[in-house]
Amino acid sequence: MDKATIVITGGAGGLGTSCARALQAYKLVITDYAQDAVDRAVADLRASGADAEGFACDISDERSVARLVEFSKRQGPFRGLVHTAGVSGTGGDPQKVFTIDLLATALLLDAFYGLATPGSAVVLFSSMMGHVVPPDPRYDGALRDPRREGAYAVIEPFLAGSADNMYNFAKRGVLLLCKDNAMRFGRMGARIVSVSPGVIMTPMAKKALEEHPEVMRKTLDMTPVGRYGLPGDVASLVAFLISDGAGFITGTDIVVDGGVLTQMLK
Ligand SMILES: NC(=O)c1ccc[n+]([C@@H]2O[C@H](COP(=O)([O-])OP(=O)(O)OC[C@H]3O[C@@H](n4cnc5c(N)ncnc54)[C@H](O)[C@@H]3O)[C@@H](O)[C@H]2O)c1
Repeated sequence: MDKATIVITGGAGGLGTSCARALQAYKLVITDYAQDAVDRAVADLRASGADAEGFACDISDERSVARLVEFSKRQGPFRGLVHTAGVSGTGGDPQKVFTIDLLATALLLDAFYGLATPGSAVVLFSSMMGHVVPPDPRYDGALRDPRREGAYAVIEPFLAGSADNMYNFAKRGVLLLCKDNAMRFGRMGARIVSVSPGVIMTPMAKKALEEHPEVMRKTLDMTPVGRYGLPGDVASLVAFLISDGAGFITGTDIVVDGGVLTQMLK
């Protein structure tokens, strides 16, 4: 029988690479923006014995996502989607952050819904920063339905022009999409969960460390476990969430941040 397949977006990135290693028992579809990065990630995985295929895809492009779904279908029975692809807000354009971190998440969910079968699971990536944005009916409707016409224009007045703020709002949107999709995926016998990493030492966090050393120091001082996270801290959680052992967990978020959020929201 064909091996069950896990699709990993951002599969060439810091957390995606680590999740792929933790999920090597499955057939892996590694997808990321650039073909050369995908090829390198797949070659590394194969060198360590994994059964991996690669597919370059821009997750913000609906047609590209549809091709990814078709490719994934051909690889074997669908077992899960681990959606790590994203961009940080740092120095960026708020609308680009909206498109990649939130709109593309909604696109992927709608596209992969057709593959959901009993026992399969989706793991989305929010962030501890998604938890610092308060609930507010003025923008929550647009965060919940980013594909609707004019959604960005509804959120934009709350951003003060900052892509970092848009990142936090997008990650709140991911939390809401996870909750809102639980019943829909549940009807197919499938689960959906989000994870909210704190500061995990990947290229994305290393860039933040260079650009905001004082903020990062303060964050570390407030972290009960007294260290930054490692990609493996997140990957082991994701492997559990995909497994049957997590069969009664859906529609919720798990924070993996060394406890820092408990101190930030005190
Ligand atoms: N590293 C952290 O400290 C941290 C903290 C909280 C949340 N997160 C979240 O975890 C996820 C993974 O973060 P990471 O640290 O591995 O980041 P990373 O930058 O190492 O990897 C992200 C990957 O996403 C890919 N990507 C970006 N735009 C894309 C697009 N349009 N189409 C396809 N692929 C695209 C990039 O090419 C990259 O390989 C992100 O969603 C991030 O917001 C990370």
